[in-house]
Amino acid sequence: MADYQALKDDLIGQLSGTVLEIGAGRGRNFARLNRDARWIGLEPSAKRRAQLWSAAQAYGHRDPVLTGSAESIPLADRSVDAVFGTVVLCSVSNTAKVLAEVRRVLKSGGKFVFFEHVAAPAGTVTFALQRVWGPISVAFGGCHLERDTWRELAEAGFATVSSRWFVPSAPWSIHGRYLAGHATVS
Ligand SMILES: C[S@@+](CC[C@H](N)C(=O)[O-])C[C@H]1O[C@@H](n2cnc3c(N)ncnc32)[C@H](O)[C@@H]1O
Repeated sequence: MADYQALKDDLIGQLSGTVLEIGAGRGRNFARLNRDARWIGLEPSAKRRAQLWSAAQAYGHRDPVLTGSAESIPLADRSVDAVFGTVVLCSVSNTAKVLAEVRRVLKSGGKFVFFEHVAAPAGTVTFALQRVWGPISVAFGGCHLERDTWRELAEAGFATVSSRWFVPSAPWSIHGRYLAGHATVS
């Protein structure tokens, strides 16, 4: 999926101003980010947060990493220019709440950039496998495999949603397909 990675570099690299990364993990996206952007990270896992903070400092970011979940973002209304997340909506407890929070903290005209693996098309073998394996994955601390994130994005009240589908080159991948793009608030 070279084109998926290229789109990631492109969409994340275009973000400017104050940029919130939800579920930032260990900080794999710093190299993509515009050096002039003010990065704020949100990460609920204490272990990952420690690694994230080290990585953030190495890239010159100075804002402390926020503790908490994206269902309740500890930032004021309309306080950031952009929000992004890479493979995070598969992990959150409540996608609709997260998207409502993303809209709340974005300034007028702000952008949400997303890169997510989602449910395979209904009726496919991969979808059937996701239905079986998804709950097991979640029970063992993994993520949800069979989410219809495209529908949640369409119903979240963004002014615009623009997305593309990507299919992993490995045909046996349980992820089935990926959704990537951006949404804006008015
Ligand atoms: C698959 S990892 C992706 C990490 C990183 N975004 C990346 O691309 O490397 C999912 C991340 O989402 C975080 N996460 C899980 N539930 C979350 C929530 N409710 N709100 C925000 N982040 C969450 C996890 O702690 C984890 O760091």
